[in-house]
Amino acid sequence: MDRAQLKSLLESMTLEEKADQLLQLSSNFFGDDRMLTGPALDFGISEDDVKNAGSVLGVTGAAKIKRLQKIQMENQAHHIPMLFMADVINGYKTAFPIPLAQGASFNPDIAKKGAEIAAREAAVSGLHVTFSPMVDLARDARWGRVMESTGEDKYLNSCFAAAMVSGYQGEPDENGGIKSGKLASCLKHFAAYGAPEGGRDYNNVELSERTLREDYFPSYEACVKAGASLAMTSFNTLNHLPTSANRWLLREVLRNEMGFDGVVISDWASIEELIWHGLAADKKEAAKLAMSAGVDIDMATGCYAANLKELVKNGEISQTLLDEAVMRVLELKNKLGLFENPFKDADETKEEAIILCGAHRKAARDAAAECFVLLENDGILPLSEKNRNLLVAGPFADNGRIVGNWSIFADEKDTVTVKAAFEEICGGCTFISTPDYLADRDMLENEDDIKHWEKTAAEIKKDSERIVQAAKKAETVILTLGEAQDMSGEAHSRTDISIPGWQMSLFRDVIAVNKNVIVLLFTGRPLCVKEIKAYARAVLNVWMPGTEGGHAIADIVFGKKAPSGKLPMSFPYSVGQVPVYYNAFTTGRPHLAKYLDAPGKPLYPFGYGKTYTTFKYSEVTLDKRRLLSGGDCIKASVTVTNTGNMEAMETVQLYIRDVIASAVRPVKELKDFQKVMIKPGESKTVVFEIKEEKLRFYTKDMCYKSEPGAFSVFIGGSSDTNNETVFWLDDEEKTM
Ligand code: BGC
Repeated sequence: MDRAQLKSLLESMTLEEKADQLLQLSSNFFGDDRMLTGPALDFGISEDDVKNAGSVLGVTGAAKIKRLQKIQMENQAHHIPMLFMADVINGYKTAFPIPLAQGASFNPDIAKKGAEIAAREAAVSGLHVTFSPMVDLARDARWGRVMESTGEDKYLNSCFAAAMVSGYQGEPDENGGIKSGKLASCLKHFAAYGAPEGGRDYNNVELSERTLREDYFPSYEACVKAGASLAMTSFNTLNHLPTSANRWLLREVLRNEMGFDGVVISDWASIEELIWHGLAADKKEAAKLAMSAGVDIDMATGCYAANLKELVKNGEISQTLLDEAVMRVLELKNKLGLFENPFKDADETKEEAIILCGAHRKAARDAAAECFVLLENDGILPLSEKNRNLLVAGPFADNGRIVGNWSIFADEKDTVTVKAAFEEICGGCTFISTPDYLADRDMLENEDDIKHWEKTAAEIKKDSERIVQAAKKAETVILTLGEAQDMSGEAHSRTDISIPGWQMSLFRDVIAVNKNVIVLLFTGRPLCVKEIKAYARAVLNVWMPGTEGGHAIADIVFGKKAPSGKLPMSFPYSVGQVPVYYNAFTTGRPHLAKYLDAPGKPLYPFGYGKTYTTFKYSEVTLDKRRLLSGGDCIKASVTVTNTGNMEAMETVQLYIRDVIASAVRPVKELKDFQKVMIKPGESKTVVFEIKEEKLRFYTKDMCYKSEPGAFSVFIGGSSDTNNETVFWLDDEEKTM
């Protein structure tokens, strides 16, 4: 449709129809063969509202979506198709590693490819929109949703944010439309959802406007610049105002400043939750606040559908405001080509052919291997495939639940487990699995849960004894330890981010009988692993590696590939350090900024990761030391030499510090990175361009600009590098 046709469609719609375009129903409303309207009662909406609903979330499958779309269009007076939306996060059926793991690759192309594959699979299953990427900056590892973010750094997050949006949506067609095989992408959660007090999900967020602009907004803006079609609000209150009622955030910042022109959708029931926040007295007031603030679609409540009509009729919401919101929804449908083809890519035959095909699995396997971070290794890794006396044990030895908590469409039976992959290469290993999750006994109240706990604890005891006996006879033990898949994710915050106690007991018992222990760490967040670091001969962090996790682990463990991941979030020394992140400020007493019982620095910093070889960095050289504003550029270079015996990839990282500024600046900030593959004995020179734009920040007067003076530039293999030199912006060289 062209704009005039869309406009005339809008004009021909009744007030009821318009309000219902902003209603998003969950899958509960839809049975297998027909529409159910039972849940409508809870929503306080009518059957007609259901028939006119503009979108639905969580329904998938080509056949089902086609059927529902057909019924809906027959019922809807103007035959307007519905939008089918869902959370396709790190893959649809072929799960890639969780987003936090993808951040560790420092390779946005991985995320782009993952998003392309996710879009291809989800599109043939009938979906139109994915609620991804989640680009919330995450500095507190207690928060369960750090697994969905790419970590603690705004620059890294922004690179991944843009890559994911372009992977899902692809290049637009000549009319700006979303092509076949692609999805509309929804950035989330706007804004600052990743900074809840105490790391407790949904909690209040207090951040100064300077910090919001400086650190939290950039990755959302990167999505907007990459063309994201939707933006989702967040659950949190931000400086005392829930984001779904924050007009400044949604209209001023998102639309006017960032230039977002797509659809704003609430998070699940976050409009109705304005009542719980104590901001609205009832659903009607909640609807009024959210609509005025700029939320277009009401996800999973009936606040809009039940109240907008009256609010418009009595003048509390202007007709123009409603029309604008509805037009944006119609425009999105049009951008997806739904008026011409309401079923878009839904295709049962293609579902069979494409989903989990060899090419998708291979991409997931390669991606996973590039995301693993080698935290420790005294040379025990890689293992020889001829190793016949290997014990592989623990909760993830043969576990398909390693795709991450948000891989809601991936089936665990499609996952390649560690056992399955190892058996393909080296016969004769012993595998002993334990359950992966033991609830915290103190948190259980219900008798059935307590009984289940007792049964699981007894099983764990028995399995652990078998593991220790087998460890006595094994030459090498691979212990798979960490967090079960559902120990991170939404509403899964933890106060104790160590490896569960029963696994640590197993670790100690095994170490007591066998010194050759390699730990494969499975996790959705940074964990406190001080003891493992001290006693294991190697620690390979494999996160939640996805459908091809087992294969990717085998590729690294047996040396088919060298690990190259670098941490996208600092691993704390102890939970009391949290939040701990590399780009903090220095204090006035840097040497005293620590604890009596812990250092000020994390156990493993952002950007850290080893491999099977070693790299030597030359000093940083600059082609000149004076940078001028207005297009000038300094070339900063290092030469990196592979001083070991294996070809491997290094992520060379560029950090900058503004030495003296009108507002305090972080000790250093990531400004660029490059990945280089280097052969043993080979040296490669890596060159970065530094321009004035990279030096901008929010000055004392909240102007986003650079200030003349000295800047330190660091280039190394981790954020703790001291490989430093200095240059001056718009200023003469001075002695430092
Ligand atoms: C989550 C969102 C998600 C939505 C729809 C909410 O609970 O916060 O990230 O997109 O549910 O499933």
